[in-house]
Order: sequence, then structure tokens, then C-alpha cells
Amino acid sequence: MTFTRKTADLVPIVDTVFSIVELAKKDKEQNGEDKVIDATIGSLYDEEGKLVAFDNVFTHYDDIDKRTKAKYATSFTGNPNYRKDVYRWVTRDKIKTLAHSTIATIGGTGAVSMTISNILDKGQTLIIPDIAWGSYKLMASQFELNCVQYEMFDDQNHFNITSFKETITKTMANQDKILVVINDPCHNPTGLSLSNEQWAQIIQFANECAKKVPFVILNDIAYIDYSYDLENSRNYMQNFDNIEENVLISIAFSCSKTLTSYGLRCGACIILAKDPQAVRNTEIVFEKSARAVWSNIPNAAMENFSWLTTQNKEAFQTEKQKYIDLLKQRSHIFIEEAQACGLPIYPYKEGFFITIKTPDNNIRDKFHQKLMANHIYTVCVNKGIRVAICSLSLTKVHGLAAKMKALM
Ligand SMILES: Cc1ncc(COP(=O)(O)O)c(C=O)c1O
Repeated sequence: MTFTRKTADLVPIVDTVFSIVELAKKDKEQNGEDKVIDATIGSLYDEEGKLVAFDNVFTHYDDIDKRTKAKYATSFTGNPNYRKDVYRWVTRDKIKTLAHSTIATIGGTGAVSMTISNILDKGQTLIIPDIAWGSYKLMASQFELNCVQYEMFDDQNHFNITSFKETITKTMANQDKILVVINDPCHNPTGLSLSNEQWAQIIQFANECAKKVPFVILNDIAYIDYSYDLENSRNYMQNFDNIEENVLISIAFSCSKTLTSYGLRCGACIILAKDPQAVRNTEIVFEKSARAVWSNIPNAAMENFSWLTTQNKEAFQTEKQKYIDLLKQRSHIFIEEAQACGLPIYPYKEGFFITIKTPDNNIRDKFHQKLMANHIYTVCVNKGIRVAICSLSLTKVHGLAAKMKALM
């Protein structure tokens, strides 16, 4: 007997992360922490193996008046100061000419989901990368959409712009709109970041396609604030000013990573287009969606973000930079050692994860099992094995690439 809607998907979620996290935990209990390499957890951990929770974020949050925490937000679209501060934080004044609106969302997930569910009609096709965060596919299925994937990498291990274009062109042949996800910079799970020139090519192609159909780019920037060249991390957005009338960009921003506040659900969706009416129309629809799904987001989380990124910006950035430097050290060691021993990886530039290249998923599965039998815990992704350097101490990173290569 089932009571859910006819089209509901009754297959349980297979959480590829938490089940492995559990196995790693058991192994640690049985064999001791030192013996186990747990590269599963996708949150930032310090060198002592503890979850990072920034002092600048949580000391001030704890001091916020209880009534501010208890209160509803000012609006379903978010508090006005938060909307303004997020826009400034995300775009850093790189976008000069476009109309825009910012909607507060329940984390980055809220922004991604709000865009996908409101841009496409049932039965239409969402375009995502073939190596990607699992939730895009889940969302497509929940909203009764089809999903096609462009290949992230070509034979030379470069971003596969040809596949990107071909996948879109094919979809356009039988669909009157395009929605394509670009998770950049700091792609999850490979750590790829596109160059300014690659973004220019993407925008040029979007403009060409937009002569035929409306074209929407969903730019998921969940990890942007861990870019190694933070100063220039928003430069690629200058390309956005070149979009034509028939192109809309939706940026999905997450406080989860930026503020190390995964559980304090807060994020934003930034809508950008040339035509202010197009932005307003989208805003109207997104606001209704917010109201219908989560109503409003935590008031104190928004207030905390505003304080943090205005009055306390410098101290916050200094604290965060320490961890960017740590990620840099961890990734540098892993990549150098991988190159030295010939462990194949996808082109990593920055971010929380590095992915071992295993184009055949059957071979990947055997490799994954073998790693676990040798106390190395990682996460399977399409065509690869994800190593979460965000939660792996330098001691554990040292020598890991060679250990993995020996088991390949
Ligand atoms: C690529 C990507 N996008 C978006 C999110 C959304 O994060 P949250 O909803 O916690 O803000 C995540 C979280 O893991 C992610 O990896």
C-alpha cells in the first residue's frame, strides 16, 4: 500500500557518503584512528580531526539576541540588508550592467532546487556535468524532469567544451528552453575551475543558442570562497555582462561552506539578466516557490552573515584564509605525490575534493573495495573516486597517493 503520489519514486536514497562514513567509523573503533584513512567527509576539518566552526561566525551568532533568533525574517525573499550584502559578497562589483535580484534560500540546495523546479516544465530535460554533485540528478527526478550529461573532460583531461556544446545543441533540437548547470569554480568533486577564456566561450555559445531558445545558466558556486586566488575568484563574472536578452543566469550561493555553517541553513539565489522585467518575473515565481516550500529562512543566520561580511569582514577573511592555506598544502602534497607515482587524477585547481580518474565504473568499484580492505575510505563518483582533502589531515595525506596507486 502506498499513499504517495502516483509519480513518486519509491526507491530509497542510497547515500554513498554516509554508508562509507559508517564503515570508516567502525574500522577506527576496531583498529584505531592511526590505521584508518578516512577521506569521506565533505566538510572542513582541522589538523586535529575536528570539524571547523569559525570563531568569527559562531561567537557572534551566540551573542545574537534570542528574539532576533526567534523572529520570522522580514520577507519571503529574505531580509533587505542580507539580500544586498549577499549580492555584494558574491559579485564583488564585477557585474556592471545587468538587472538583478537576490532571493534568500535554504542553503545552496534551496537555490539550485528553486531554479531547477521553476525554470523547466515537467518532462523537460536538465543538463548537468557527467561528474557532479548527486543532488542535481535527484532534483531532476523529483521534479519529473529528464537529465542529460555533458562530459566534463576530453581525452587531454581538459574541460570538454565540445561535449558541452553538443549536449546543449542536441537538447535544443526538441526543447524550447535550455537549463544547464555549471558548478564552478572549485567543482565538486574534481576541483576544476574554468578559466576566464572558457567562461567567455560559454557565454558566447549561450548567446548563439539564445537566438533560438531562452537559455538559462545555473552557476553553482558552493565552494567559491575557498578559491586559492580569492582576490580574482569573481573575475569570470565579468563575462556575464555580455549576455544577450534571451539569456538568464541564476547563481546558487551557499553559506554552508563559506561560513562553515552547514546546519544553519542559509544561502541565496542571484538572478541576473539584461531585461529588468525578466528578472522581476523570475523573482515573482521564485518568491512564491520559497513561500510554498520553506516560507522564510533563519532570521539570525541572515543577520549574522550581514555583520560578518561588513563590520567583521577582515577578521572573518583572515580566519578563513588559514584554512584555504591548509587546503592548498594538503592538495599540493597529494597532487605532487600522485604525479610522482602515476596515480591518475582529474585536473584539480582548488576546492574541497580531488578525484582519482577511473573511467570504467566496474573497475572503480573493485578499486574502491580494495581501498576499504586496506583501511582507506573514499567516495565513489561517476568515473572516479573522490578524496575529501577538506577533512584529511596533512599526516594522513602524506603517502596516500602512493598507497592508492599500489592498490589500483
Ligand atoms: C556542488 C554543491 N552545490 C550545492 C551544495 C549545497 O549545499 P548547502 O545546501 O548545504 O548549502 C553542495 C553541498 O554539498 C554542493 O556540493
